[in-house]
Amino acid sequence: MQNYKKAGEVVAKVRKHLKNLVNPGETLLDIAETIEKMIKDEKAEPAFPVNLSINQIAAHYTPTVEEQTTIKEEDIVKIDFGVHIDGCIIDNAITIDLSGKNEKLLLAAKDALDVAVQTIKAGVGDGTVGKKIEEKIKEYGFRPIKNLTGHLIEKYNLHTGIDIPNYAKEDSYYFKEGDIVAIEPFATDGEGRVIETPNVEIYSIVGGGKLRMRSSRELFGKLLLKYKGLPFARRWLGGMLKTNLLISASLRELVQEGCLHPYYVLKEAGNGLVSQFEHTLLVKEDGVEILDGEFTF
Ligand code: CO
Repeated sequence: MQNYKKAGEVVAKVRKHLKNLVNPGETLLDIAETIEKMIKDEKAEPAFPVNLSINQIAAHYTPTVEEQTTIKEEDIVKIDFGVHIDGCIIDNAITIDLSGKNEKLLLAAKDALDVAVQTIKAGVGDGTVGKKIEEKIKEYGFRPIKNLTGHLIEKYNLHTGIDIPNYAKEDSYYFKEGDIVAIEPFATDGEGRVIETPNVEIYSIVGGGKLRMRSSRELFGKLLLKYKGLPFARRWLGGMLKTNLLISASLRELVQEGCLHPYYVLKEAGNGLVSQFEHTLLVKEDGVEILDGEFTF
Protein backbone atom coordinates (compact mmCIF):
# COMPACT_ATOMS: atom_id res chain seq x y z
CA MET A 1 0.00 0.00 0.00
CA GLN A 2 2.96 2.27 0.70
CA ASN A 3 3.81 2.64 -3.01
CA TYR A 4 0.20 3.46 -3.93
CA LYS A 5 0.17 6.19 -1.31
CA LYS A 6 3.48 7.60 -2.51
CA ALA A 7 2.33 7.51 -6.16
CA GLY A 8 -0.87 9.28 -5.09
CA GLU A 9 1.15 12.04 -3.44
CA VAL A 10 3.16 12.52 -6.63
CA VAL A 11 -0.08 12.80 -8.64
CA ALA A 12 -1.46 15.42 -6.25
CA LYS A 13 1.76 17.42 -6.41
CA VAL A 14 1.95 17.37 -10.23
CA ARG A 15 -1.76 18.17 -10.58
CA LYS A 16 -1.26 21.48 -8.77
CA HIS A 17 0.86 22.72 -11.69
CA LEU A 18 -1.54 21.83 -14.49
CA LYS A 19 -3.50 25.08 -14.57
CA ASN A 20 -0.25 27.02 -14.98
CA LEU A 21 0.96 24.70 -17.72
CA VAL A 22 -2.11 24.60 -19.93
CA ASN A 23 -2.31 28.01 -21.60
CA PRO A 24 -3.14 29.22 -25.12
CA GLY A 25 -0.06 29.02 -27.34
CA GLU A 26 1.63 26.22 -25.39
CA THR A 27 2.42 23.13 -27.44
CA LEU A 28 0.89 19.80 -26.47
CA LEU A 29 4.33 18.24 -26.73
CA ASP A 30 5.81 20.66 -24.17
CA ILE A 31 2.91 20.10 -21.77
CA ALA A 32 3.12 16.30 -22.00
CA GLU A 33 6.90 16.24 -21.65
CA THR A 34 6.83 18.68 -18.72
CA ILE A 35 4.32 16.55 -16.83
CA GLU A 36 6.28 13.36 -17.55
CA LYS A 37 9.48 15.03 -16.38
CA MET A 38 7.84 16.28 -13.16
CA ILE A 39 6.80 12.69 -12.42
CA LYS A 40 10.35 11.38 -12.97
CA ASP A 41 11.81 14.19 -10.86
CA GLU A 42 9.73 12.78 -7.99
CA LYS A 43 11.46 9.40 -8.46
CA ALA A 44 8.31 7.89 -9.93
CA GLU A 45 7.40 6.82 -13.47
CA PRO A 46 4.52 7.73 -15.79
CA ALA A 47 2.11 4.77 -15.69
CA PHE A 48 1.12 5.66 -19.27
CA PRO A 49 1.78 8.55 -21.67
CA VAL A 50 0.15 11.84 -20.66
CA ASN A 51 -3.19 12.04 -22.51
CA LEU A 52 -4.13 15.53 -23.70
CA SER A 53 -7.53 15.22 -25.30
CA ILE A 54 -9.04 18.45 -26.58
CA ASN A 55 -12.69 19.41 -27.19
CA GLN A 56 -14.45 16.56 -29.12
CA ILE A 57 -11.52 14.19 -28.57
CA ALA A 58 -12.38 12.08 -25.52
CA ALA A 59 -9.29 9.99 -24.82
CA HIS A 60 -5.98 8.41 -25.89
CA TYR A 61 -4.47 11.49 -27.52
CA THR A 62 -0.80 12.01 -26.83
CA PRO A 63 1.46 14.19 -29.00
CA THR A 64 3.97 12.82 -31.48
CA VAL A 65 7.65 13.63 -31.17
CA GLU A 66 7.41 16.42 -33.77
CA GLU A 67 3.91 17.63 -32.96
CA GLN A 68 3.38 21.39 -33.28
CA THR A 69 -0.26 21.57 -32.13
CA THR A 70 -0.83 24.35 -29.62
CA ILE A 71 -3.57 25.05 -27.10
CA LYS A 72 -6.19 27.46 -28.47
CA GLU A 73 -8.02 30.23 -26.57
CA GLU A 74 -11.32 28.37 -26.25
CA ASP A 75 -10.15 24.80 -25.81
CA ILE A 76 -11.52 22.30 -23.33
CA VAL A 77 -8.43 20.30 -22.33
CA LYS A 78 -8.61 16.93 -20.59
CA ILE A 79 -5.38 15.95 -18.90
CA ASP A 80 -5.34 12.28 -17.96
CA PHE A 81 -2.05 11.09 -16.45
CA GLY A 82 -0.87 8.23 -14.29
CA VAL A 83 2.02 7.62 -11.94
CA HIS A 84 3.46 4.31 -10.85
CA ILE A 85 6.02 3.31 -8.28
CA ASP A 86 7.15 -0.28 -8.71
CA GLY A 87 3.94 -1.07 -10.62
CA CYS A 88 1.59 0.52 -8.09
CA ILE A 89 -0.48 2.76 -10.36
CA ILE A 90 -2.49 5.88 -9.61
CA ASP A 91 -4.64 7.20 -12.49
CA ASN A 92 -6.33 10.61 -12.52
CA ALA A 93 -7.74 13.27 -14.81
CA ILE A 94 -9.03 16.82 -14.79
CA THR A 95 -10.56 19.10 -17.40
CA ILE A 96 -9.55 22.71 -17.95
CA ASP A 97 -12.01 25.01 -19.73
CA LEU A 98 -10.03 27.92 -21.12
CA SER A 99 -13.02 29.91 -22.38
CA GLY A 100 -14.91 29.58 -19.11
CA LYS A 101 -18.07 28.98 -21.14
CA ASN A 102 -18.43 25.30 -20.29
CA GLU A 103 -18.62 25.38 -16.53
CA LYS A 104 -21.74 23.17 -16.42
CA LEU A 105 -20.20 20.53 -18.65
CA LEU A 106 -17.20 20.32 -16.33
CA LEU A 107 -19.33 20.27 -13.20
CA ALA A 108 -21.42 17.42 -14.61
CA ALA A 109 -18.38 15.11 -14.76
CA LYS A 110 -16.84 16.42 -11.52
CA ASP A 111 -20.03 16.10 -9.47
CA ALA A 112 -20.67 12.66 -10.97
CA LEU A 113 -17.24 11.61 -9.74
CA ASP A 114 -18.04 13.03 -6.28
CA VAL A 115 -21.28 11.05 -6.11
CA ALA A 116 -19.44 7.87 -7.11
CA VAL A 117 -16.85 8.52 -4.39
CA GLN A 118 -19.65 8.89 -1.84
CA THR A 119 -21.40 5.73 -3.05
CA ILE A 120 -18.58 3.20 -3.28
CA LYS A 121 -17.79 0.91 -0.36
CA ALA A 122 -17.31 -2.83 0.04
CA GLY A 123 -20.40 -4.68 -1.18
CA VAL A 124 -21.73 -1.96 -3.52
CA GLY A 125 -22.31 -3.05 -7.12
CA ASP A 126 -20.77 -1.53 -10.25
CA GLY A 127 -24.14 -0.83 -11.91
CA THR A 128 -25.34 1.04 -8.83
CA VAL A 129 -22.34 3.35 -9.11
CA GLY A 130 -22.98 3.77 -12.84
CA LYS A 131 -26.58 4.74 -12.12
CA LYS A 132 -25.47 7.51 -9.74
CA ILE A 133 -22.99 8.80 -12.32
CA GLU A 134 -25.57 8.81 -15.12
CA GLU A 135 -28.21 10.53 -12.99
CA LYS A 136 -25.84 13.30 -11.94
CA ILE A 137 -24.64 14.00 -15.48
CA LYS A 138 -28.24 14.07 -16.76
CA GLU A 139 -29.21 16.51 -13.99
CA TYR A 140 -26.96 18.99 -15.77
CA GLY A 141 -28.58 18.23 -19.12
CA PHE A 142 -25.69 16.21 -20.56
CA ARG A 143 -25.03 12.57 -21.43
CA PRO A 144 -22.45 10.19 -19.97
CA ILE A 145 -20.17 8.51 -22.50
CA LYS A 146 -21.33 4.92 -22.27
CA ASN A 147 -18.42 3.15 -23.91
CA LEU A 148 -15.76 4.67 -21.68
CA THR A 149 -15.52 3.21 -18.19
CA GLY A 150 -13.72 3.24 -14.90
CA HIS A 151 -11.52 0.26 -14.17
CA LEU A 152 -10.02 -1.88 -11.44
CA ILE A 153 -6.23 -1.59 -11.08
CA GLU A 154 -3.69 -4.20 -10.01
CA LYS A 155 0.09 -4.14 -9.88
CA TYR A 156 1.43 -3.39 -13.40
CA ASN A 157 -2.15 -3.77 -14.67
CA LEU A 158 -3.98 -0.56 -15.49
CA HIS A 159 -7.22 -2.28 -16.56
CA THR A 160 -7.81 -5.65 -14.92
CA GLY A 161 -10.78 -6.31 -17.18
CA ILE A 162 -13.35 -5.21 -14.60
CA ASP A 163 -15.06 -2.09 -15.95
CA ILE A 164 -17.04 0.39 -13.87
CA PRO A 165 -19.78 1.81 -16.11
CA ASN A 166 -20.72 5.47 -16.38
CA TYR A 167 -24.42 4.57 -16.77
CA ALA A 168 -27.05 2.47 -15.01
CA LYS A 169 -26.86 -1.27 -15.58
CA GLU A 170 -27.42 -4.44 -13.61
CA ASP A 171 -24.77 -5.03 -10.93
CA SER A 172 -22.25 -7.63 -12.05
CA TYR A 173 -19.24 -6.78 -9.89
CA TYR A 174 -19.37 -6.00 -6.17
CA PHE A 175 -16.54 -3.94 -4.67
CA LYS A 176 -14.31 -5.63 -2.09
CA GLU A 177 -12.25 -4.13 0.67
CA GLY A 178 -8.75 -3.41 -0.69
CA ASP A 179 -9.83 -2.92 -4.31
CA ILE A 180 -7.98 -0.15 -6.14
CA VAL A 181 -10.40 1.43 -8.59
CA ALA A 182 -10.18 4.35 -11.01
CA ILE A 183 -13.50 6.12 -11.53
CA GLU A 184 -13.72 8.42 -14.55
CA PRO A 185 -17.05 9.90 -15.62
CA PHE A 186 -17.12 11.58 -19.05
CA ALA A 187 -19.90 14.09 -19.82
CA THR A 188 -20.85 15.35 -23.29
CA ASP A 189 -23.39 17.44 -25.17
CA GLY A 190 -23.05 14.95 -28.05
CA GLU A 191 -24.35 11.40 -28.56
CA GLY A 192 -22.83 9.83 -25.47
CA ARG A 193 -20.45 7.41 -27.12
CA VAL A 194 -17.01 7.52 -28.65
CA ILE A 195 -15.74 6.21 -31.96
CA GLU A 196 -12.20 5.31 -32.97
CA THR A 197 -10.18 7.59 -35.23
CA PRO A 198 -7.38 6.05 -37.34
CA ASN A 199 -4.71 7.77 -35.20
CA VAL A 200 -2.66 5.85 -32.66
CA GLU A 201 0.35 6.96 -30.65
CA ILE A 202 -0.11 4.75 -27.56
CA TYR A 203 0.39 0.99 -27.36
CA SER A 204 0.74 -1.73 -24.76
CA ILE A 205 2.00 -5.30 -24.87
CA VAL A 206 -0.80 -7.84 -24.73
CA GLY A 207 0.83 -11.12 -25.72
CA GLY A 208 3.48 -12.98 -27.66
CA GLY A 209 3.28 -14.01 -31.28
CA LYS A 210 5.18 -15.27 -34.31
CA LEU A 211 7.37 -12.42 -35.48
CA ARG A 212 9.04 -12.57 -38.87
CA MET A 213 11.32 -9.55 -38.46
CA ARG A 214 14.33 -9.74 -36.16
CA SER A 215 13.85 -6.05 -35.30
CA SER A 216 10.30 -6.78 -34.10
CA ARG A 217 11.58 -9.47 -31.76
CA GLU A 218 14.27 -7.11 -30.48
CA LEU A 219 11.79 -4.26 -29.93
CA PHE A 220 9.31 -6.60 -28.24
CA GLY A 221 11.96 -7.73 -25.76
CA LYS A 222 12.97 -4.18 -24.94
CA LEU A 223 9.38 -2.98 -24.54
CA LEU A 224 8.52 -5.87 -22.24
CA LEU A 225 11.56 -5.20 -20.08
CA LYS A 226 11.00 -1.46 -19.92
CA TYR A 227 7.22 -1.09 -19.63
CA LYS A 228 6.17 -4.50 -18.26
CA GLY A 229 2.82 -4.37 -20.01
CA LEU A 230 2.01 -0.74 -19.17
CA PRO A 231 1.06 1.59 -22.05
CA PHE A 232 3.83 3.56 -23.78
CA ALA A 233 3.99 6.30 -26.43
CA ARG A 234 5.54 6.06 -29.87
CA ARG A 235 7.45 9.25 -29.02
CA TRP A 236 9.17 7.45 -26.13
CA LEU A 237 10.83 4.89 -28.42
CA GLY A 238 13.42 7.00 -30.23
CA GLY A 239 16.76 5.17 -30.25
CA MET A 240 15.33 1.78 -29.24
CA LEU A 241 16.25 0.38 -32.67
CA LYS A 242 18.83 1.56 -35.23
CA THR A 243 16.42 3.76 -37.20
CA ASN A 244 13.00 5.32 -36.81
CA LEU A 245 11.86 3.50 -39.94
CA LEU A 246 12.74 0.20 -38.32
CA ILE A 247 10.78 1.14 -35.19
CA SER A 248 7.71 2.00 -37.28
CA ALA A 249 7.90 -1.21 -39.31
CA SER A 250 8.38 -3.30 -36.17
CA LEU A 251 5.47 -1.62 -34.39
CA ARG A 252 3.32 -2.41 -37.43
CA GLU A 253 4.24 -6.09 -37.30
CA LEU A 254 3.76 -6.25 -33.53
CA VAL A 255 0.23 -4.84 -33.89
CA GLN A 256 -0.57 -7.13 -36.84
CA GLU A 257 0.54 -10.21 -34.92
CA GLY A 258 -1.53 -9.28 -31.88
CA CYS A 259 1.48 -8.57 -29.65
CA LEU A 260 0.57 -4.91 -29.12
CA HIS A 261 -2.75 -3.30 -28.38
CA PRO A 262 -3.10 0.02 -30.26
CA TYR A 263 -4.99 2.70 -28.33
CA TYR A 264 -6.81 4.50 -31.13
CA VAL A 265 -7.62 8.15 -30.44
CA LEU A 266 -11.30 8.28 -29.44
CA LYS A 267 -13.66 11.07 -30.42
CA GLU A 268 -17.24 11.83 -29.53
CA ALA A 269 -19.58 10.21 -32.08
CA GLY A 270 -21.87 13.24 -32.36
CA ASN A 271 -18.98 15.71 -32.32
CA GLY A 272 -19.96 16.82 -28.82
CA LEU A 273 -17.61 18.51 -26.38
CA VAL A 274 -16.31 16.17 -23.68
CA SER A 275 -15.35 16.71 -20.03
CA GLN A 276 -13.73 14.18 -17.69
CA PHE A 277 -12.61 13.94 -14.07
CA GLU A 278 -10.94 10.92 -12.50
CA HIS A 279 -9.69 9.74 -9.13
CA THR A 280 -8.12 6.47 -8.00
CA LEU A 281 -9.79 5.07 -4.88
CA LEU A 282 -8.97 2.48 -2.24
CA VAL A 283 -12.15 0.65 -1.30
CA LYS A 284 -12.75 0.18 2.42
CA GLU A 285 -15.46 -1.49 4.45
CA ASP A 286 -17.36 1.73 5.00
CA GLY A 287 -16.27 3.98 2.13
CA VAL A 288 -13.23 4.91 0.09
CA GLU A 289 -9.96 6.75 0.40
CA ILE A 290 -9.05 9.03 -2.52
CA LEU A 291 -5.46 7.95 -3.16
CA ASP A 292 -4.58 10.92 -5.37
CA GLY A 293 -6.06 13.47 -2.94
CA GLU A 294 -9.11 15.68 -3.29
CA PHE A 295 -9.24 18.28 -6.07
CA THR A 296 -8.22 21.67 -4.71
CA PHE A 297 -10.29 23.77 -7.12
CO1 CO B 1 -8.32 5.61 -16.04
